[in-house]
Amino acid sequence: MIEACLFDLDGVVVDTAKYHFIAWKALAEELGFEFTLEDNERLKGVSRMQSLEILLEIGNLRVSDREKLAMAEKKNALYVSYIEKMTPEETLPGVEKFLRELRAAGIRIALGSASKNAPMILERIQLSGMFDAIVDGNSIAEAKPNPEVFLKGAEKLGVLPENCVVFEDAIAGIEAAQNANMYSVGIGDPETLGFADMVIPGFDGFTVDMLKKALNCA
Ligand code: BG6
Ligand code: MG
Repeated sequence: MIEACLFDLDGVVVDTAKYHFIAWKALAEELGFEFTLEDNERLKGVSRMQSLEILLEIGNLRVSDREKLAMAEKKNALYVSYIEKMTPEETLPGVEKFLRELRAAGIRIALGSASKNAPMILERIQLSGMFDAIVDGNSIAEAKPNPEVFLKGAEKLGVLPENCVVFEDAIAGIEAAQNANMYSVGIGDPETLGFADMVIPGFDGFTVDMLKKALNCA
């Protein structure tokens, strides 16, 4: 039985990876090294401070905790300057339609994101009202693959984890869903996310009926 669907934000509802990339790249350049699109892949689903650790590792730099905080703040200020200008057109294809279909089917909806900027992004793309519960980087202590973000979502919705479906684009996110004992749907490439219960390229053309069929429920 599907009682709730939990959505990651970055890479599932919106493509913010490009803005994260520009902001991390600017920081790397300032620090004197190159940061590539391939490097950026390693930051997907990873928290802001963990992302910075990976960046510093790539640049082979060791800095104090205080400097790390200043760097993360600087990167975030640049990132926010981009997401502030986001519009509803940047919602990934088919997402809004699928969310509306879930609501019509009486299935509850939660956000489960590592981002501290999630509330601002949802507001900019005008989807805040579609979520019955929001769990984001401001309300969790443990990063994915820890299941905390999704377990909190299920708890807020008052549903059992085994009746939840998670939509995720990151490996750590699918692992978090599995650790939470939830059904996982990978958004993206089957080569990378093939260990999820199901993988789809995106929400365009995806329906609640297709999800129910995959789960063998009426
Ligand atoms: C995740 C992204 O959703 O949020 C990561 O996939 C990002 O790339 C993380 O680092 C934290 O985001 P923010 O907005 O709090 O810096
Ligand atoms: Mg993601």
